[in-house]
Amino acid sequence: MAGKLSTILGAQWGDEGKGKLVDILSEKYDIVARATGGANAGHSVYVGDQKFVFHLLPSGILHENTVCVIGNGLVLHIPTMFEEFEDVEAKGISIKNRIKISDRVALLFEYHKIIDGAQEDSKGGKKVGTTRRGIGPAYSDKINRRGLRLCDLKNWETFVEKYNANLAWHQKVYGFEYDSVSELKYLQEKREELLGMMTDAAFYLNSALESGKNVLLEGANAALLDIDHGTYPYVTSSSPTIGGVFTGTGMNPKYLAENIGIVKAYMTRVGSGPFPTELLDSTGEQIRTAGNEFGSTTGRPRRCGWFDVPLTKYSIMINGFNSLNLTKLDILDELDEIKIAVNYKLDGKVLASFPALLEDLEKVEVEWETLPGWKSSLKDLNTWDQLPENAKKYVLRLEELLGCPIKYIGIGQRRDQLIVR
Ligand code: GDP
Ligand code: IMO
Ligand code: MG
Repeated sequence: MAGKLSTILGAQWGDEGKGKLVDILSEKYDIVARATGGANAGHSVYVGDQKFVFHLLPSGILHENTVCVIGNGLVLHIPTMFEEFEDVEAKGISIKNRIKISDRVALLFEYHKIIDGAQEDSKGGKKVGTTRRGIGPAYSDKINRRGLRLCDLKNWETFVEKYNANLAWHQKVYGFEYDSVSELKYLQEKREELLGMMTDAAFYLNSALESGKNVLLEGANAALLDIDHGTYPYVTSSSPTIGGVFTGTGMNPKYLAENIGIVKAYMTRVGSGPFPTELLDSTGEQIRTAGNEFGSTTGRPRRCGWFDVPLTKYSIMINGFNSLNLTKLDILDELDEIKIAVNYKLDGKVLASFPALLEDLEKVEVEWETLPGWKSSLKDLNTWDQLPENAKKYVLRLEELLGCPIKYIGIGQRRDQLIVR
């Protein structure tokens, strides 16, 4: 019998807690793969008193029987990946023979970061607030058909020619000094090791699925950061929604068996752009502190706000989730009351769908519902029945408004702090 594909995708603006569920569920999977994004992602996983932050490696790496795949749809910064290898191995986890990298994956060089920074700095007050990890410039090279891919490393001489041509083009446009000698020396040193991990990943994944192996796909970034469906231009440069899973790996969609959306019990956003439910007051500060809402990648304080139903429903529609993981419910423990944004209104009319134009999104009036808090700690509970009545009411009301089952409820960072309904 063929195996199954399960996907775990960010349903809001990122940092919903994808890494935690991937880490927990990957025990049951043979392969864990990433399809999109790059080292803009920061997925934190806590195991005992150890903390791991993954930018490029799938969070499934912590289970020593899983094979981890970096799909063709990423932009790969090779030194960051090797740093992650070292970090994981230093913490006693062997990665030997467990990493496969798509031969078609786009390469992200150090100069893409310089360009990312230069583009941001030129925008004055209209900065996207990127992670400055070179994501946009590396994807631009790919889309403009002048980028390099991992398979280019097969032939070192032509790799160097292509690299020099690409760099020269960027230097002409952006006019910066650059130490290509060190970067090329590093890549030449790592070349054999990289070629050893290089795989025709689409063939590998489809063959594995066909032979009965199960694959877990770890989404990066999130739906509202999607280049097409997100709050453009305050988005990332890839497709973190369900379509990106298939273009970013080449897996056949027929294997998709389970599609889980990760939603935080309140909203957060890093970087610029409209945020209709943002809390700019002491409650926002209280949530930021309780939830430790500071970026895993950049350390920036995350903007916080109330749960946004119109936005999350839009994400559920685009992704077709069959269940949700509501994360960080415990962070709301201390609040007297909790608000939910149930509708957006524009010019006095309730909107049926999520607005495309940012000026409209900035203007929307939010219709609220207020629920009482539960004022007690959830962190040591184990089952749905043990949840306080008001916490159950909050979850059930969200489920009703969203029209999608909430199967998992996060009540802490640890692996065991997850209620499964
Ligand atoms: P990701 O990018 O979606 O993987 O999320 P991040 O790792 O950037 O941010 C989520 C943070 O919340 C991490 O530090 C997680 O350990 C933590 N987290 C995840 N789920 C829960 C939860 O249910 N409760 C609490 N308190 N923390 C959680
Ligand atoms: P994970 O996987 C939160 C945001 C950046 C910025 C915009 C564009 O940890 O959920 P980029 O560097 O991609 O060009 O930045 O997208 N962003 C994220 N925000 N979590 C992420 O990933 C993000 N990846 C990108 O903050 O606003
Ligand atoms: Mg993150």
